[in-house]
Amino acid sequence: MSGSAAPGGSSSPGDRRTGAHWFEDLADFVGPAYLRYSFTKGTDQEVGFLVDALGLSKGSHVLDVGCGPGRHARALAARGCKVVGVDIAERFVRLAADGAPRGAAFVRGDARRLPVRPAFDAVISLCQGGFGLPADPSAPDDDSVLDAMAAALRPGGRLALTAFSSYFLVRHLEDSDTFEASTGVNLERTTVKDGEGGESEFDLWTACYTPRELRMLAAAAGLRVLGLWSVTPGAYDRRSPDMEHPELLLLGERVASSRLPEGPQVGGGSSPERRRP
Ligand SMILES: C[S@@+](CC[C@H](N)C(=O)[O-])C[C@H]1O[C@@H](n2cnc3c(N)ncnc32)[C@H](O)[C@@H]1O
Repeated sequence: MSGSAAPGGSSSPGDRRTGAHWFEDLADFVGPAYLRYSFTKGTDQEVGFLVDALGLSKGSHVLDVGCGPGRHARALAARGCKVVGVDIAERFVRLAADGAPRGAAFVRGDARRLPVRPAFDAVISLCQGGFGLPADPSAPDDDSVLDAMAAALRPGGRLALTAFSSYFLVRHLEDSDTFEASTGVNLERTTVKDGEGGESEFDLWTACYTPRELRMLAAAAGLRVLGLWSVTPGAYDRRSPDMEHPELLLLGERVASSRLPEGPQVGGGSSPERRRP
């Protein structure tokens, strides 16, 4: 796993367990050692920035999509938010739930078909948390992921997601990268370390984006763009998009008349009949 970017991937999408996302093999292997990677070390700064940008306060209902071991969800719950974390990797869901603070709940699920009730005050998806990790790298379907996240918001609710920057990736292409120009998906072959000194090779597929693509996807999902910035993990800032920072951070707001279908089940915002995390 590279130090600056949050990736994905097993040996190949074709040899993974039937129906599983390729990231699950990586999560099973790396386990808690995921939190040793440098890009996970700036959680406090990221959460402080997001609390302000998303207008969160005690009691806000937040959905963390592709939550991994729950570092943002747990930090937000510690600040008094009610957080539901969703991740496709069972191992990460178990790690997230283990010893989680009051107010944080975790569930296994797919970002494209979120197992949550709508009306969250905010949705976050950080370090390619489901957005930008295509299950089928030949046909990225991040539009479905963004639609599902927008549908989980109450009207006026806010979304913050990060996506890997195409500009940065191409400008700083490394020997281990193979960038597919027609899909915008980068394949990186990398060595991942577990916590016991073990190493394994993984292929990581990351769908990369330009600022214009993110704006267009956001509009199609019924989101008004409030901000779009170039950021580095652990150093979120309101910096105009450039080619020197690895991630783009999109801040959007669900417009009242969104065309989106509403999803089923867990958690959710302000309706009294909804099950709380
Ligand atoms: C690089 S990790 C980021 C985790 C966390 N957001 C963070 O910032 O540390 C990407 C996460 O997205 C999850 N993921 C990938 N595709 C997903 C999908 N379709 N639905 C739900 N989770 C997904 C992976 O299992 C993994 O935990």
